[in-house]
Amino acid sequence: MNTAQRHYETLLGEVYSWSVGVRGDPFERAAEWLARFKLDGAATSLDLGAGFGAHVVPLARAGSSVTAVDFDRTLLSQLQSTLGGLAKDVSVHQADLVDFVRAAEEQRWDLILCAGDTITHLPELSAVRELISLCAQHLRAGGALALQFRDSTGLALEGTSRFLEVARTLGGRCTASSSPSTTSTCE
Ligand SMILES: C[S@@+](CC[C@H](N)C(=O)[O-])C[C@H]1O[C@@H](n2cnc3c(N)ncnc32)[C@H](O)[C@@H]1O
Repeated sequence: MNTAQRHYETLLGEVYSWSVGVRGDPFERAAEWLARFKLDGAATSLDLGAGFGAHVVPLARAGSSVTAVDFDRTLLSQLQSTLGGLAKDVSVHQADLVDFVRAAEEQRWDLILCAGDTITHLPELSAVRELISLCAQHLRAGGALALQFRDSTGLALEGTSRFLEVARTLGGRCTASSSPSTTSTCE
């Protein structure tokens, strides 16, 4: 198990949907983001690092046949319990996302998505390069690869600057920070 996977299994998986939810309905926000970049018309889509399904749900609602991949069991079970009647349009895979695309052989998608800073979880730049190259081979003609990530180049990886606050309740009693070496605190 790599560091990122352990981080989700021991810390972030339990609080991730909460941390995203405190900023408003995550499905609506993802739907708006997909529409803004004209990514909501794909007949078939592959969501790499799908998590609890922030993008899977609006894509399926828009009529896409969605393949969702993530290594975190907790988030995938949240995704499956959210799908309801959309489940027939979504195939869910618990796997490492690079391994999944490597093994995808002849499969092609109109949209390949790696959203919500997921690409920065890959262990090294060579894995990012390999992923982009593999994705290019698995796009249908005219398809799109959409990568969404935060520009962290100005962040100093020292002291408390190592931590990104991802959420805070209104009372300020519950916070979660995204770093492999810290814990969330909830009172
Ligand atoms: C920051 S979350 C983003 C989730 C979702 N895309 C969103 O925008 O809400 C990153 C997700 O990628 C998954 N993930 C990170 N690295 C992965 C990998 N190598 N293989 C599979 N899933 C991975 C995590 O489990 C987590 O669900």
